[in-house]
Amino acid sequence: MGDTDSMEIRKLSGNVAAEIEGVRIGALDPGAPDSEALRQALYRHRVLILRDQDLDLAGLKRATAVFGPLLRVPYIAPAPEDPDIVRVLKEQDERDIAVFGGDWHSDFSFLDEPPGGSLLWAVEVPPYGGDTVWADQIAAWASLPANLKTALDGKRVIHLGAPYGVDHAPPPDLAVSRSVSMTRGDPDADRPRLHPSPRTYPPTGEKALFVNPIYTVGIEGLPESEAAEILKAAYAHATRPEFCYRHRWQAGDLAIWDNRATLHYAVNDYDGHRRLLYRTTWAGEAPV
Ligand code: SIN
Repeated sequence: MGDTDSMEIRKLSGNVAAEIEGVRIGALDPGAPDSEALRQALYRHRVLILRDQDLDLAGLKRATAVFGPLLRVPYIAPAPEDPDIVRVLKEQDERDIAVFGGDWHSDFSFLDEPPGGSLLWAVEVPPYGGDTVWADQIAAWASLPANLKTALDGKRVIHLGAPYGVDHAPPPDLAVSRSVSMTRGDPDADRPRLHPSPRTYPPTGEKALFVNPIYTVGIEGLPESEAAEILKAAYAHATRPEFCYRHRWQAGDLAIWDNRATLHYAVNDYDGHRRLLYRTTWAGEAPV
């Protein structure tokens, strides 16, 4: 389908996510009116869900180009099928392991230029569980209690690739899915990066809270214990159910999210079942 008259946009929760109907995204040209309509929908809702997308990996990459330049993400081994794609896979026999993305985070917030956003396309899903949850950080910033706003506004927060010492990161002795191979201990990833929080969401100029419990480890100029207390309260607020949309996957679903204004969480509650999704990412900019 190729004209915006056939596109329908339906909100999925009060603050974040909309379902898009009437678009076959793998066939779209980034310059087509439908592509512009999708970008505008993303900027408004931050997460888009498209059902029944009959994609292949080339189509997934074409769909990514609608939102920005395709980015090969560092520190994760790509899918054997394609160097631009990550296979998010947990096998049926993988039990009691951590999964990729299994705590609240914004992707690669420890890079100088964290990604703009990602697409996740479901190929095989468990009969129950394995949901993904997104939390809107524009709504979170807007309603952040005044004491936390004052504590964060105008300061930079410290992001680190190595989630050492972070309360919510998977404990080091818990294996991460063998199906997703990640590089640990790279000195460049483990170098602290300072980013503002809030950051400005480039498409609209709104402010978004920009902290997450996997990669944020401190606040510039504050003692560790004081920063930890502020961050703990900020995480609790950032992930309140009011700001969240929880997606129950069906094969063929495509989720698209803006990494600059959301956190997400892969729910790991489906041991004994296989789950396979393909993921692409588009480039972002340095947070300001
Ligand atoms: C991720 O991209 O963090 C993984 C999300 C998921 O597997 O649900």
